[in-house]
Amino acid sequence: MIGRLNHVAIAVPDLAAASALYANALGAEVSEPTGIPEHGVTVVFVGLPNTKIELLSPLGEKSPITAFLERNPSGGIHHVCYEVDDLKAACDRLVTNGARVLGEPKIGAHGLPVVFLHPKDFNGTLIELEQRAA
Ligand code: CO
Repeated sequence: MIGRLNHVAIAVPDLAAASALYANALGAEVSEPTGIPEHGVTVVFVGLPNTKIELLSPLGEKSPITAFLERNPSGGIHHVCYEVDDLKAACDRLVTNGARVLGEPKIGAHGLPVVFLHPKDFNGTLIELEQRAA
């Protein structure tokens, strides 16, 4: 059911420093920061030949990243995102298999519907599923 790895998201305490690290030390192409208020994050996209890395930092009072950075002050892998052909069918299949889908699909960082799956159901990993672009 799942397809390409769309991105790996890494929460970082200092977005400018993390961007510079990826650009300079790793020689990667990094985007300008983009604020996504609906998700409470500012994102820098790191383009790789086969996927993306998203550097996330908190935006606003109720950011989902804040508590994560309190537990992981130097940052850490926050979630992985897999593409699916049919998000609704994927959610139905997950629920049938006893996995917890967190809320209803929302429009994600790439303008496509996404949902998150409970990390306790997936070996401690927060999973994002993104509807594959048509
Ligand atoms: Co993501």
